[in-house]
Amino acid sequence: MVNMAKTGIKGFDSMLKGGVPEGNQIILAGGPGAGKTLMSFEFLYRNAKMGNKGILFTLDEEPANIVNEAKLAFSDLTDIDDLLESGMITIEKEDLSVGTKDESQLSYEFGRIVSDIEAIINKTGAKRVVIDTITVLSMLVSDPIAYRRSMLALVSNLRRIGVLSIMTAELPSPERTKLEFKPEFFLADGIAIMYQTGEEARRMLALEIIKMRGSDHSFVTTPYEITSSGFRITSVDDIAKLD
Ligand SMILES: Nc1ncnc2c1ncn2[C@@H]1O[C@H](COP(=O)(O)OP(=O)(O)OP(=O)(O)O)[C@@H](O)[C@H]1O
Ligand SMILES: [Mg+2]
Repeated sequence: MVNMAKTGIKGFDSMLKGGVPEGNQIILAGGPGAGKTLMSFEFLYRNAKMGNKGILFTLDEEPANIVNEAKLAFSDLTDIDDLLESGMITIEKEDLSVGTKDESQLSYEFGRIVSDIEAIINKTGAKRVVIDTITVLSMLVSDPIAYRRSMLALVSNLRRIGVLSIMTAELPSPERTKLEFKPEFFLADGIAIMYQTGEEARRMLALEIIKMRGSDHSFVTTPYEITSSGFRITSVDDIAKLD
């Protein structure tokens, strides 16, 4: 029997018909400002409240910025600092040394990051992991076969350790009609896409689950909002319950 886990983000769990198998590796992809980092942070926040330690590996942003942005956006979640101080949530910067390295050195750098991540997860005992964002890793390896091999190493390592993780990915276009599948989408157990449509003031945000291995899920593209108490995702299942 596979143990099911909750992301802790209410509407997302509704879309996932309750949750996902423990040990699933999920890609959360979207355009700039879709809320990838904030949603990943809320995943760690909700899980920390359920007693599951979490760690966010940031590959480009500074940890202090991530915390500040989360506290600003989620102003009703007043215990964020407590969870950080008690070690239930850790934000760790992974520095890439790119410089003027050639392809094989960069591929080696990818490998170093994968083992670094594994060592830190083991040291902290984290059960929930976020990697923000794997798009930075894709810049390290231009050869598609080498890239797929490196990405497979990352995903299978996380799967072997048994953590439930969210890996964010940047999409060049936030529109559904322009969605492109990337090699890592095939390696992950789950894919959720955050779309943005419309112009500025009339901007609409919506979430779609493309796949989730081992779990039934909604196929409906579902609107979401970022509120001071977290993501509000209006799952059709929740609307149906109101009738
Ligand atoms: N207090 C808030 N209320 C509502 N929306 C907010 C609030 N704070 C931030 N946001 C929204 O969240 C977005 C930023 O979220 P986040 O940093 O998670 O996006 P991202 O997808 O990680 O972006 P990037 O690709 O730039 O890293 C902002 O563009 C804004 O639309
Ligand atoms: Mg981000």
